[in-house]
Amino acid sequence: MKNAKKPYIILNAAMTIDGKISSKEGDSEISDEEDWKEVHKLRTQVDAIMVGKNTILKDNPKLHIKFYEHKGYYRIVIDSNLSIPIDSQVINFKPETYPTIICTTENVHQEKVKEFEAKNIKVMRNGKSSRVDLKKSMSNLYNLGIKSVLLEGGGNLNWSFIKEDLVDEIRLTIAPWIIGGKSSITLADGDGFENMLQAQRFKLVDLNHREDYVILKYKRW
Ligand SMILES: NC(=O)c1ccc[n+]([C@@H]2O[C@H](COP(=O)([O-])OP(=O)(O)OC[C@H]3O[C@@H](n4cnc5c(N)ncnc54)[C@H](OP(=O)(O)O)[C@@H]3O)[C@@H](O)[C@H]2O)c1
Repeated sequence: MKNAKKPYIILNAAMTIDGKISSKEGDSEISDEEDWKEVHKLRTQVDAIMVGKNTILKDNPKLHIKFYEHKGYYRIVIDSNLSIPIDSQVINFKPETYPTIICTTENVHQEKVKEFEAKNIKVMRNGKSSRVDLKKSMSNLYNLGIKSVLLEGGGNLNWSFIKEDLVDEIRLTIAPWIIGGKSSITLADGDGFENMLQAQRFKLVDLNHREDYVILKYKRW
């Protein structure tokens, strides 16, 4: 899998000054209307939007475009056990415009796969361990014609992408709040690296602000 081709991956998030992307109760209403417009504009520029399973369970997002005319894109969910509810918005809202792919593991039963395929969901089984093999998934998505992905979290999925060195660009909106909480989800959770030498470095390529919000764009060094 080394050097396999993969989509260009942009990690996008709205976070508080203290780096949280959600409160300890799962409230992630951090973006204001301006920020949502930017997110939706970014969505028009990619082939797919990707989220982790918990983001579906907690927010039940449509992952659509509201502010612009657009022909659509793929929605991708990373879900090891194919456990998101079949009545989730990501499955039922405008599937003709936003077809959904679920990346899962080889551990899921064929019956479960069929249940989702009956809803026209493409199920990709990548990896035999307890979690989805992201490198394999990215390679398979690339081969499907998906050349760019907007990764919209949450913190655990973001961490895995960082750990596997799959993120090419980061777009961040820092909103003027401090929410605190050691159990609140941050931009990248997971186990973390042991020291700064292992940490991934990004280059700041753009910096803007409006009112009390800061908008940052980084690229991988
Ligand atoms: N402010 C923002 O911009 C923003 C954006 C997105 C989300 N959020 C918030 O983030 C919160 C959810 O974040 P979260 O960290 O709890 O969950 P998440 O990142 O959405 O999903 C993580 C789950 O994905 C599954 N998964 C499968 N393979 C994986 C892999 N290789 N690496 C990592 N995860 C893998 C795992 O569950 P299984 O193994 O069971 O499949 C894992 O628990 C929500 O509250 C949401 O509102 C905020």
